[in-house]
Amino acid sequence: MRNDIKEILFTTEQIEDKAAQLAKQLEVDYQDKKPILLGLLKGSIPFIGDLMKHMNIPIQIEFMDVSSYHGGTTSSGQVKILKDLDISVENRHIIIVEDIVDTGFTLTKVIALLKHRGAASVEVVTMLDKPEGRIVEMEPKYIGFTIPKAFVVGYGLDYDEYYRNLPYVGILKEEVYMK
Ligand code: IMP
Repeated sequence: MRNDIKEILFTTEQIEDKAAQLAKQLEVDYQDKKPILLGLLKGSIPFIGDLMKHMNIPIQIEFMDVSSYHGGTTSSGQVKILKDLDISVENRHIIIVEDIVDTGFTLTKVIALLKHRGAASVEVVTMLDKPEGRIVEMEPKYIGFTIPKAFVVGYGLDYDEYYRNLPYVGILKEEVYMK
């Protein structure tokens, strides 16, 4: 897999340190709120795992699966809910955990849905932000790293469902997806 990576952007250590910092900030901001950490499958799995172990307050963990990419390297703009929540979010404080924000379509749709269902508050913590890719306005409150407009994989992020298990974040060589 390493041969398919053009450049490593963030090492395991850098990512884990950042997750711990963000977790401590969330711990302060959500002290008495019993928030739901809502991971968006499948890319958020390593990040939510690192965040939760550093949050020493009562939290609930839930997941949703939404898709806008359908295997390529650009967003389709059509956000589909593949797996919905099976609990009520009414009057609950929700922290959406995302791997990366690009166009903003996915989060805009999920935030609107949770608010419509009566959530008390909805914020986003994302490991990576690609602001140059934004098509709809969306500003995550908690951001790990801001990156340029490149297609990255690893630490949960995939290309065609592969590379999620790389322990670092790297830029995928263009020839891999131009084939
Ligand atoms: P958005 O709806 O365009 O903001 O895209 C968010 C979702 O697209 C993320 O949760 C990822 O699944 C996927 N995505 C966006 N950029 C990348 C990338 O560089 N590599 C892998 N997946 C990406």
